[in-house]
Amino acid sequence: MTSQKEQTLVLIKPDGVRRGLIGEIIRRIEAKGYVVENLKMSLVSINQLKNHYQEHEGKPFFEPLLEFMQSGPIVAMVVSGNRVIEGFRSLAGATEPTSAAPGTIRGDLARDQGTKVVQNLVHGSDSSESAQREILIFFPELQGVK
Ligand code: RTP
Ligand code: MG
Repeated sequence: MTSQKEQTLVLIKPDGVRRGLIGEIIRRIEAKGYVVENLKMSLVSINQLKNHYQEHEGKPFFEPLLEFMQSGPIVAMVVSGNRVIEGFRSLAGATEPTSAAPGTIRGDLARDQGTKVVQNLVHGSDSSESAQREILIFFPELQGVK
């Protein structure tokens, strides 16, 4: 089977940064064999978040999600490798940490915190179209480069 090298946007959300899990999460990405191509830690603006999460606008968790994602710094990364979009989502595990499989980032390291929005440590793009769009939201300086 052949496949092409892809890129995905990975975010370590504010809960992951607060809990001191930046190193552990990057360790798992690199141990799997994926490559961190770009990395930055920053606060995220409301406009970036509304753009990033536009598919969820109008859902009951949308406002709590924006609030949570602005509650502290995040780490944004462009990660590359063959089939990395699917592969990182497999490493991350299911959205809901209670049922995420053991062995995954969310299954091993996150749990239900009783909050208005699920806090699940990481984000990973869900398609190549999403990845291209999301990478430029967090790394606008890469426009025209990749
Ligand atoms: P992500 O986009 O963060 O990688 O996660 P995902 O694809 O697994 O989940 P998605 O459906 O795209 O939802 C985006 C994020 O919104 C929060 N969420 N909360 N019912 C809820 O409280 C709920 N549903 C979604 C989570 O932080 C989820 O990762
Ligand atoms: Mg998603």
